[in-house]
Amino acid sequence: MLVNTKNMLLDAKQNHYAIPHFNINNLEWTKYILEECEVLKIPLILGVSEGAIKYMGGYHVVVSIVKGLMEDLNITIPVAIHLDHGSSIASCLQAIDAGFTSVMIDASKYPLDENINMTKKVVEYARDRDVTVEAEVGHIGGSEDNISNTSLNATLEDCITLYNSTEIDSIAPALGSVHGFYHGEPNLDFETMKKINETLPIPLVLHGGTGIPITDINKAINCGISKININTDLQVVWSLALRKFIDENEDVYDPRKIIGSGEIAMKKRIQEIVTLFQTKRG
Ligand code: 13P
Repeated sequence: MLVNTKNMLLDAKQNHYAIPHFNINNLEWTKYILEECEVLKIPLILGVSEGAIKYMGGYHVVVSIVKGLMEDLNITIPVAIHLDHGSSIASCLQAIDAGFTSVMIDASKYPLDENINMTKKVVEYARDRDVTVEAEVGHIGGSEDNISNTSLNATLEDCITLYNSTEIDSIAPALGSVHGFYHGEPNLDFETMKKINETLPIPLVLHGGTGIPITDINKAINCGISKININTDLQVVWSLALRKFIDENEDVYDPRKIIGSGEIAMKKRIQEIVTLFQTKRG
């Protein structure tokens, strides 16, 4: 069932577990993630970056792939198609028009006023179309910033201001996590996380889920994180398996066998991640 993220994230917030947001990059990834989460019977968010959308052919292609797979594979779990880090109002509107059920407007590189203005416009458009909206406060750093680990942490006050002015459905406060690999141990601001969660009625999102130790993931969920974004982790797992397969099977040229050689490793990792995120789910 294709849904927006509202009910799944509110349930996760109330019951102290986290919904996995797995980024998809192609047909095969989408298929493996859907299949494994269907086996595990958990609600799922398929995150798609603008880069992945371009790579896959466009917004409509992404929606068609997800819808087609859900129908042909008899997927019954709630699934949201979510624009990850929408960089402009136009991109969010395009995603909504194509059938995405959720969008993130990432105006975090602009001053708060501008972030609010852009987010408000996306929320206005999304509301009438039953699409949920996530916004970012502070700035989550990572490989896209060229200098890894550059984050600008969110403040409780800015989160309150953004929420009150926009009525977004979920919020991603930058609190020390980064996209991709960490240099050293991640240093998450759990105190502010907890305060934001206690103050705002909406679910909190943790970006940069790769490389965060299990104890910190558990702490973050206890502090109110209801959605955790994972991308690099699965990329590494999939590419390691694929490299091994190619090294051991020099004579294989069938793309289905080459690309598909990452399936088992990826599904195993998905299961581990989901189990970690959902330990407290009733
Ligand atoms: P990682 O690549 O660090 O898992 O982060 C993914 C992410 O936050 C996508 O929005």
